[in-house]
Amino acid sequence: MKTCLLNFFIFMLFSCFAGEENLDLIISSEEIAAKIKTVGKQISSDYANKNLSLIVVMKGGICITADLMRAIEIPFKFEFLKASSYGNNGMSAGKLTINGIESLDIEGRDVLLVDDIFETGNTLQRIIKELSAKNPSSIKTLTLLVKEIPRKTSYLPDYILFHIPDLFVIGYGLDYKEFYRGLPAIYAFPENKAPF
Ligand code: IMP
Ligand code: MG
Repeated sequence: MKTCLLNFFIFMLFSCFAGEENLDLIISSEEIAAKIKTVGKQISSDYANKNLSLIVVMKGGICITADLMRAIEIPFKFEFLKASSYGNNGMSAGKLTINGIESLDIEGRDVLLVDDIFETGNTLQRIIKELSAKNPSSIKTLTLLVKEIPRKTSYLPDYILFHIPDLFVIGYGLDYKEFYRGLPAIYAFPENKAPF
């Protein structure tokens, strides 16, 4: 609680000096919108004769999913689950916890999991493993971003909107210590340095 309050006050102080204009723009909202239109059409065609269940990985997947679901032109069911590993750690991953899988009814459905960013791949691979136990017809994945880092796995999401260099990014759902999720585009901190 104390740490949360302290982070909040430091964030408010930081915001006075570092607005959006002081962050490095990595991907603009126009670029995101254009890509979502194209991918929405692709998904509508790929899943035309299937039983699509779109599952958002909260919280990071919130913005991409909200826009993507309005670009998909076929019927689908919408579900959510929650995964967290970064939390208040800031720029480094902690223990991965996944919630909400128990209440999903996906037997015989074609699942498309939507997340914000693919870094090591641990999050999506753990979710895929847990979802497989519920006997869906298929499981595919979509991420807004893939971070270009060396990875232990050769697995990559089936739909990727953008590849980015090895930078910590915020905005459009992505957070730093739970802040910045509401920025309309993707940004990095100047010199990739954490502000607080
Ligand atoms: P992975 O399990 O290593 O693939 O990491 C995926 C999760 O880590 C994402 O869903 C994000 O929540 C978080 N993450 C990874 N890189 C970043 C970043 O640059 N900014 C914000 N969150 C990130
Ligand atoms: Mg995430």
